[in-house]
Amino acid sequence: MMQHSMFSRRSLLAGAGVALMPLLPVLAAGLVPTPEQTEGPFYPAGFPADIDNDLVRVRGQAAQAMGQVLHLQGRVIGLGGGARSGAMVEIWQCDGRGIYDHPRQAGRDRRDAAFQGYGRMLVDSEGRYSFRTLKPVAYPGRTPHIHLKVATADGRMLTSQFYVAGDPQNERDGVFRRAIRSPGQRERIEMKLEAAPGLEPGALATTMDIVIA
Ligand SMILES: [Fe+2]
Repeated sequence: MMQHSMFSRRSLLAGAGVALMPLLPVLAAGLVPTPEQTEGPFYPAGFPADIDNDLVRVRGQAAQAMGQVLHLQGRVIGLGGGARSGAMVEIWQCDGRGIYDHPRQAGRDRRDAAFQGYGRMLVDSEGRYSFRTLKPVAYPGRTPHIHLKVATADGRMLTSQFYVAGDPQNERDGVFRRAIRSPGQRERIEMKLEAAPGLEPGALATTMDIVIA
């Protein structure tokens, strides 16, 4: 629907000449923002000792977290596509058994201690971030997802969640459904996973740009 109305406005402008020229920069800055979604009850109550961008390994432990490794990377950008350098990106998710490292989590003692569960990083000058984490799994009541929170250098905050594209549980998930009000928003929160044997055997990779107005 949005694309359709964009198209008709463009056609209108094409025929309208100079009078509407001031509108053009607005149309050019046309990226759909990443939709805001609930933080949920499991944002860390206290941060783990290791909070780097590799959630699959906890510093000082030999074991690697159970699950399929996912390399999640992308850029934090504005509506015009420019880097939002200086932004801080945080992610958190449950372990391979569906258990969060959180006091509200039932059965927390059964969690995978080799999974960091939370990580953060500052984007580089191009707005780039990257995490080595796990392909998210479902837990009762939710489709698989990764939570994220971004704070920009100028004080804007975005809280959202990423999902696995094509997972049939998405369409039955209330949080997912509320976040999707246009095809453009779906693209912002659905991760298209690809095999990435070049990065590491058996791993998946995905690129998700985070667009903040
Ligand atoms: Fe969650």
